Amino acid sequence: VEAIMPLRMKINGEARELELDTRTTLLDALREHLQLTGTKKGCDHGQCGACTVIVNGERINSCLSLAVQHEGDEITTIEGLGTPGDLHPMQAAFVKHDGYQCGYCTPGQICSAVSVLKEIRNGVPSHVTDDLAGDIGLSNIELRERMSGNICRCGAYSNIAEAMTEVAEA
Ligand code: FES
Ligand code: FES
Repeated sequence: VEAIMPLRMKINGEARELELDTRTTLLDALREHLQLTGTKKGCDHGQCGACTVIVNGERINSCLSLAVQHEGDEITTIEGLGTPGDLHPMQAAFVKHDGYQCGYCTPGQICSAVSVLKEIRNGVPSHVTDDLAGDIGLSNIELRERMSGNICRCGAYSNIAEAMTEVAEA
């Protein structure tokens, strides 16, 4: 049985109102109903991270969340982080360090990367311990662990880590 519900959210700083089938995911609401196609659908099952957006300051997989759960929430997508000519520092660092090849995973990688640096600043614990870090150094291992939900089929991982390290150090 189809059920339609009204929904208000603040998306990239702008108040938006929608009427949606209650089964619509946040990802489909963004892409299909608000034409914010920067957020990508990779697996639609919480396995790739391409759909990562920032909700009330925290990253989530938008494919795993129903839109109607987000009444009143503040949502930031890649379009809200920065625009051509006015890039977010993380977007600029991805460009500088070649943090992508096909670019399909990139909006999710960047939303995650921005959130990860905030998580580190706020002391959100990581699964990685000093023992695992070994000679490679904790920060790189920790970044990789925290980014492990974002899959890149092109394998741009080391350049993504370089971009994040530069922004973290800035
Ligand atoms: Fe959401 Fe893959 S599309 S995790
Ligand atoms: Fe192609 Fe990541 S740049 S999937």
